[in-house]
Amino acid sequence: MKNILVVGGGGREHAIIMKLAESKHVNKIYCTPGNGGISKYAECFNVGATDIDGVVALAKKLNPDMVVVAPDDPLVLGMVDALQSEGFMTFGPKKNAAIIEGSKVFSKELMKKYNIPTAFYEVFTESDKAIAYLKEQNTYPAVIKADGLALGKGVIIAQNEDEAVQAVHEMIDELKFGNSSARIVIEEFLTGPEVSVLAFTDGKTVVPMISSMDHKRAFDNDEGLNTGGMGTVSPNPYYTDEIAKECMENIFIPTINAMNAEGRTFEGCLYFGLMLTPKGAKVIEYNCRFGDPETQVVLPMLDADLYEIFEAIYNHTLENVDIKWHSGACACVVMASGGYPLSYPKGIEMSGLDDKGQIKNCFVYHAGTKVSEDGKFLTNGGRVIGITAKGENLESALETAYNGVSEIKFENAHYRKDIGQKALKALN
Ligand code: AMP
Ligand code: GLY
Repeated sequence: MKNILVVGGGGREHAIIMKLAESKHVNKIYCTPGNGGISKYAECFNVGATDIDGVVALAKKLNPDMVVVAPDDPLVLGMVDALQSEGFMTFGPKKNAAIIEGSKVFSKELMKKYNIPTAFYEVFTESDKAIAYLKEQNTYPAVIKADGLALGKGVIIAQNEDEAVQAVHEMIDELKFGNSSARIVIEEFLTGPEVSVLAFTDGKTVVPMISSMDHKRAFDNDEGLNTGGMGTVSPNPYYTDEIAKECMENIFIPTINAMNAEGRTFEGCLYFGLMLTPKGAKVIEYNCRFGDPETQVVLPMLDADLYEIFEAIYNHTLENVDIKWHSGACACVVMASGGYPLSYPKGIEMSGLDDKGQIKNCFVYHAGTKVSEDGKFLTNGGRVIGITAKGENLESALETAYNGVSEIKFENAHYRKDIGQKALKALN
């Protein structure tokens, strides 16, 4: 039996831990830093997810059989390399492969070089050249992206020249995202339904998981600011078998091959953010990790042993693992703190959860909670919990998830009422 250390502390990590806990191989699960809900299923520690030395030291103390590095920043910083050099079995890409998310310039150049469909783009390091280019193109909306990681806030869809010029100044001249925005990508605005496809890969075999749809804006009808994701459904009805085949041939396999050809073999979960444009599926972004909150609706649908998959990826034997999916659908509704994604209070008492932080009929994946000294669940982040339910179809999954939402209360809780509505329309 195996002991596992999971690095991270959000809803995604909670979903990974719950799935690993189902494995017949898994004994004890540790998590750092974890959160209130995770602490009911895994022993949590105080080491931050980006503290490479701290996590290596913790791993040496706990001596787990595997360390799963879930968030983007430690992957991009090279936590997997550091753990492997100490002899640990890991899940997650090495630093030289995590750059596929860590640098948008890298990923755009990769796609261009290997003919992987994506939006047309140019790269800039000087604001006057970027602004001259915008004026010459004179096409809006224009999409302006910081090169590096920016907590999901590094993409500006500028509706006119003023907004575009402002975004360029903020990124390049004012370094709004630090060094992450010293270089920017300006790209063509694409239209069409968005699909998230996470894929297991060991660099030889690529196994796409069931598709999903995120809801990134804060408010109903896709209004308000971009967030980390306010809810997800799986499968994504726009992602037909025919489109899946096209993506496998034109995007997934070519990406794995391209990374190998560059000497940057990707091992882990590669996330394809796709847009189904009138001219075919195109890559909007790559992430080097499981999506959040996509994982919360994808892993409950997995009909296989997640530990076996992780081990096979490490051993490059993924082709031998039989990976199946449950039928039906899964939906996740995120309950956030009032004010998110801007400023919000923390430490607000929550009601409706049982002593494990769960409710009947749903999985409650905790994203930002903690347990008070007297054992109560308190809010501790922007996204607080994701209430997730499976159903024989999307309607029933959504109904169960929203019934769950109505049972949980905290002051100024905010959630979208229309998660899955776009998907339901596409189905009908
Ligand atoms: P990202 O952080 O790269 O996922 O981008 C955030 C969101 O911006 C995406 O989910 C899309 O909705 C939108 N977006 C990014 N790039 C483009 C593009 N080239 N055309 C249209 N929308 C885009
Ligand atoms: N849900 C989008 C992401 O994980 O980046």
